[in-house]
Amino acid sequence: MNIDGKPYRTIWLAADGRAVEVIDQTRLPHAFATVRLATMTQVADAIRGMTVRGAPLIGAAGAWGMALAMAEQPSDAMLARAYDVLLATRPTAVNLRWALDDLRARLATLPPAERRAAAYARAAEICDEDVATCRAIGSSGLPLIEAIARRKPAGARVNALTHCNAGWLATVDWGTALAPIYRAHDSGIDIHVWVDETRPRNQGAGLTAFELGRHGVPHTVIADNAGGHLIQRGMVDFCIVGTDRTTRNGDVCNKIGTYLKALAAHDNGVPFYVALPYPTIDWTLDDGVRDIPIEQRDPLEVSHVSGRTSAGRLDSVAVVPDGTPVANYGFDVTPARLVTALITERGICPASEAGLLSLYPERRTHQPSPREGGEKVARSAG
Ligand code: MRU
Repeated sequence: MNIDGKPYRTIWLAADGRAVEVIDQTRLPHAFATVRLATMTQVADAIRGMTVRGAPLIGAAGAWGMALAMAEQPSDAMLARAYDVLLATRPTAVNLRWALDDLRARLATLPPAERRAAAYARAAEICDEDVATCRAIGSSGLPLIEAIARRKPAGARVNALTHCNAGWLATVDWGTALAPIYRAHDSGIDIHVWVDETRPRNQGAGLTAFELGRHGVPHTVIADNAGGHLIQRGMVDFCIVGTDRTTRNGDVCNKIGTYLKALAAHDNGVPFYVALPYPTIDWTLDDGVRDIPIEQRDPLEVSHVSGRTSAGRLDSVAVVPDGTPVANYGFDVTPARLVTALITERGICPASEAGLLSLYPERRTHQPSPREGGEKVARSAG
């Protein structure tokens, strides 16, 4: 995507060919800055602190973290340590585990002297694959929006509703949920997006609004609790969100608050679509509500709100009485029965095991072990 006429991905190899650079998402939308990450530990800190975030981008960053670890020391001990440190950064987005498993499996079979080059090549390839995959998700989802547009009265706008940020900032480029929206807008469909602010970290208000605005897609930020009202009043034609982990049976884990929007959409007969690339599917789990580990983050994200003051300074203010107990659940699970369809790089399918297997027949042989996902609630490391 372009920022002030310059094409950007969210993560790229620095000019020195050793470090990586990323867009600092903790400063958006008020400041656009990039950060250089030169060590595996710096990548782990960037994932944990959400300098980079969004399931596909977390996976790509994890791959680069493994590569930087191999540049530091290509030993078996470092391989194991890098895997453990990076995996512990954020527990819910399965793309991270997917990328780390991929890198570890490839590197473990190589002599140490060959690991650095192989890791850099694979991390770069994962990034390129993510761009192609997300672009394909856009192609898969576009006909759904075209069909909705055709059913509207002549001249009427298509209204989408999205939660959190599942755009290009959450991936390497294009996004998942926003990819079909960009494609629809670019193809001339008059589309407008209701953007949930997405407390506590406001990824909708800050990041999705930033992206859509830069691309020229009409949008309106709403308080998280407004969605049900808009859906009830016929002001939403379809909902579309991303996901951090989708289980074999089609349950969808995404940013906290997604489930409530799915309930409202279901109650009002509004389609609820979920867009995802293949590394977001956890084939080892078949009950998302029971088994997906739900990240709990720092209570400060709920008790305080960050933003720009009228003096132009980035600051944080308290919104609860001092000493109030606060809980910060990062994600929730929308059961498959509330999901109209999954939109993937291979096409669209029902949110069910049969649906997913129709697109990924190579997965037919794997038998899930129900409790492979570990504990239900997990705190982010650090
Ligand atoms: O906590 P975040 O900002 O990493 O959460 C991101 C989301 O929940 C996205 O909706 C999800 O990763 C899908 S991104 C394409």
